[in-house]
Amino acid sequence: MSGFVEKPEPVEVPGLVHLHTGKVRDLYQDADGRLVMVASDRMSAYDWVLPTEIPDKGRVLTQLSLWWFERLTDLVPHHVISSELPAGAPADWAGRTLVCRPLEMVPVECVARGYLTGSGLAEYEQTRTVCGLALPEGLSDGSELPSPIFTPATKAAVGEHDENVAYEEVARQVGADVAARLRQTTLAVYGRARDIARDRGILLADTKFEFGFADGELVLADEVLTPDSSRFWPVDQWEPGRPQPSFDKQFVRDWLRSPAAAWDRDGELPPPELPAEVVERTRAKYIEAYERLTGMSWS
Ligand SMILES: Nc1ncnc2c1ncn2[C@@H]1O[C@H](COP(=O)(O)OP(=O)(O)OP(=O)(O)O)[C@@H](O)[C@H]1O
Ligand SMILES: [Mg+2]
Repeated sequence: MSGFVEKPEPVEVPGLVHLHTGKVRDLYQDADGRLVMVASDRMSAYDWVLPTEIPDKGRVLTQLSLWWFERLTDLVPHHVISSELPAGAPADWAGRTLVCRPLEMVPVECVARGYLTGSGLAEYEQTRTVCGLALPEGLSDGSELPSPIFTPATKAAVGEHDENVAYEEVARQVGADVAARLRQTTLAVYGRARDIARDRGILLADTKFEFGFADGELVLADEVLTPDSSRFWPVDQWEPGRPQPSFDKQFVRDWLRSPAAAWDRDGELPPPELPAEVVERTRAKYIEAYERLTGMSWS
């Protein structure tokens, strides 16, 4: 079992039509056909949307994505039209709502990895490959790869794992030309972001992008380069051969696996509410990532 413990009811806003409730974002359409994307404070972990929210998380994800989009426009167009609150929207949507170009989404999670960990490490340990790409011997958890690699995954439904796939499989699904553009753009954006982050003391281990098409144009969509879509490691604590500390849900995952949570990850029951301390430390991590990267103070 997995998914939502309780799927939230969409907010009713005059002039907006609710389209979709994602794990983290709610999608609406405005009267002009534009997409209104509202990032919630919901947190997902182990394929569940947790019953406890992380205050300010939606605003951090939104503001950080906006900051990055502006730094990538020469590489790829992005989907944001405006960050102004649509007329009639609730005040608490401010700062976490983006009006976007509605895209025909490409059903591929475009992942770039510069370092080995997570599902990449798991595959490497079995076969010395990641997404079918051969890698040298002797790498361990957190190792830098000889050069960044494109490791696409299929986009799973709520409650299911994304699955790594070979590049050839993506080419079969979306065509060789689109696949090549996804790979090229993903690696170009990763390279830019990695360099910017490194200057700010953050190592961008890997990250996931989503793209879509509008009027034949390939457009960068969704959120970008946030702690939810990326692994950010403090540069000064990087030490291959062990799991790295990171600016994300680490406290949540650690707690959910601890005896205190008394929760069976592989069982039928949903995860429990998070304790206040885990919520606060997670919130602080998200804000710290925002502040380190942008150089701006959160409040
Ligand atoms: N410009 C866009 N046009 C259309 N869809 C978009 C655009 N940008 C993002 N999306 C989609 O909006 C959704 C964002 O919601 P969220 O990230 O919470 O969902 P998810 O749980 O990752 O995925 P899903 O709800 O599709 O299972 C994703 O399905 C994403 O593909
Ligand atoms: Mg998503």
